[in-house]
Amino acid sequence: MNMKRLASVVMVLGCVSAFAKAPESSVPEAQAPADREVWITVGSDVAHIVNATLVGSGFAAPEQVGQKGEVTAFRVRESQLNLISRAMHDRANRCGGYIYHDTEASALASMDNTAAAQAMSSLAVTYTVDNAATVNALVAGLQEPNIRNTITQLSSYTTRYHTSSTGTTAANWLKSHWESLANGRTDVTVELYTHPSTVTTQPSVIMTIQGTTLPSEVVVLGGHLDSTSSGSTAPGADDDASGIATLTEVIRMAMVQGYRPQRTVKFMAYAAEEVGLRGSKNIADTYKANAVNVVGVLQLDMTNYQGSTIDVAMMTDYTNAAQNSFITNLISTYFNTDPNKITWSNSTCGYACSDHASWTNAGFAASIPFESLMSQYNPSIHTVNDTLARSNNNANHALKFAKVAAAYVAELAKGSVNVTDTTPPTVALTAPASGATVTGTATISATASDASGIGRVDFLVDGQVKGSVTSSPYNFAWDTASTANGSHTVAARAYDGVGNSATSSSVTVTVSNSTSTAGYDSTLKAPRCLSVSSSCDSGTLLNGRGGLGPEVNTPNTINGSCADGLSGTYHSDESNDRIKVSTTDGTPFAAGKTVKIDATVWVYSTTADKLDLYYAANATSPTWTYITTITPTAKGAQTLSATYTLPSGAVQAVRARFRYNGSVAACGTGSYNDHDDLVFAVQ
Ligand code: BES
Ligand code: ZN
Repeated sequence: MNMKRLASVVMVLGCVSAFAKAPESSVPEAQAPADREVWITVGSDVAHIVNATLVGSGFAAPEQVGQKGEVTAFRVRESQLNLISRAMHDRANRCGGYIYHDTEASALASMDNTAAAQAMSSLAVTYTVDNAATVNALVAGLQEPNIRNTITQLSSYTTRYHTSSTGTTAANWLKSHWESLANGRTDVTVELYTHPSTVTTQPSVIMTIQGTTLPSEVVVLGGHLDSTSSGSTAPGADDDASGIATLTEVIRMAMVQGYRPQRTVKFMAYAAEEVGLRGSKNIADTYKANAVNVVGVLQLDMTNYQGSTIDVAMMTDYTNAAQNSFITNLISTYFNTDPNKITWSNSTCGYACSDHASWTNAGFAASIPFESLMSQYNPSIHTVNDTLARSNNNANHALKFAKVAAAYVAELAKGSVNVTDTTPPTVALTAPASGATVTGTATISATASDASGIGRVDFLVDGQVKGSVTSSPYNFAWDTASTANGSHTVAARAYDGVGNSATSSSVTVTVSNSTSTAGYDSTLKAPRCLSVSSSCDSGTLLNGRGGLGPEVNTPNTINGSCADGLSGTYHSDESNDRIKVSTTDGTPFAAGKTVKIDATVWVYSTTADKLDLYYAANATSPTWTYITTITPTAKGAQTLSATYTLPSGAVQAVRARFRYNGSVAACGTGSYNDHDDLVFAVQ
């Protein structure tokens, strides 16, 4: 399929679903609010779509209350917002949304802002890059598992939709969590920022670190707390639990390092972004009205989906160009070499795509480093599938944004850290014992301690990280089947809360997962593994078909129960050449275990050749149970695999039937068909 076409389809889907309803089943309190008159501003290039959509759906044309250059303002009904935005994104084929206004005056004022605002904000501050000690101290201890855990916590709420009760529960959880990180520092406060009821009932959450020498100058780092979805849950793991979790890890480092900024720093988790940037707009407008001197704003909305080799996309529209170059300067200064290398490129995201637009419109310098180019962002956002699984269950990508945000705060708010702990943790391995032989799943255990607390313990096999644990007890279930049989070293490496690390002395163990190669059983007339192990391999016994090729003891079906076709030429026409069965967890065959069948076949045709797989609980009198049929995708030697669950039975078997045309059956008469069985012992 044409990849270009695929990319644009994906983008439309993401944006379409942006405007789906709140999850109704799970969020009864999120049902249609009183149908108030509200105002929206949209990009003028999509204004005609707003009109056409409402008229097309049987509504009166919305009143256009103003239009200035690139921005158009409409008066609509609150209940029409979802419809408008969905259609707008359907037909405009781009993201970027609308800004919600609870008064007409606000909508009209917002049209004047954009151009003037950018000119004004660019005068706000002189950018310098001269605080490397603080940047490096904040960056060194940033840890992926912490970001991952915060994403898991936030995405565990059914929804964080702004009208839902769990949307408020999530705000309260975040406030407590940030408070616990602040750990009683008197220059740090955490508040719930409540908005007028016409804006939203969800509170925003703000942490403030009071500046030491320039407290009236404010640096803002934000993301949005709310989520939305077309389905029954709105996990919003990427959009935007990732942004909040990224900021949370920067906060944790700032606190454990005793970071004291010269300028005041505010971390903000905005309410109600998904319904027109409401929380951030209310805050930014209030700050503007109160003449708060905000020198810079960094928005993190979607940080954990690596859409391409570009790590960071700097959005150049509705952002401040001078601050954007300051940030890309920071990236090239601090993150230019492995393991901290970060690549970036420019992109655009449209009118009002996230909360930075609220700050831009209020006259402040705002930027949004984004997870990918606009054409490659996470296609699962705004659906029930926006989960951490879509990022391979890790926060590696978000960690890069934590580094960028740490550099940004250290270089814009300046100030220094007060590191009191340079002592690495104490760490020791308590299992396995030196010289042990391990099979199946083996537990690796460690003890670790440190004055600043333990951030995480990594478990290493031959120096490679096999797993990490962030809290005591530090035990890890090592699947030894993922490591080759033989001698290996095992060790644990602990990181303390400020990033100091130490590695335990290592022990040498022997991995010994039993495997066996089948021998020909002249009674059953098929290859057989006599003793129980974790895998059984036919080796070379099945190589060929009928009289074609080296296959001895043909047809190698139990009791000679099914003959092979005899036409064609060895390794031009079809043959099943080898069968291997193995438990997926590396432990011995036993009832209930998942086993994998690997059948190596010679493929003649990728359309007519099919592999039928069967198993039998009792090999001495087999009843064949169908597992699956696999169509090979390439010619020549191919290994085709499937899994099934072992029934009980001491002597079991699998059958591979490789056929040319014909239909699914355990045995058939086609002249190019090969049938082979493999018998093996089970506990
Ligand atoms: N995180 C998205 C914005 C986004 C999505 C940016 C995909 C870049 C790529 C944000 O939460 C969102 O959905 N915004 C809406 C606009 C909002 C004002 C209703 C959008 O852009 O569709
Ligand atoms: Zn978002």
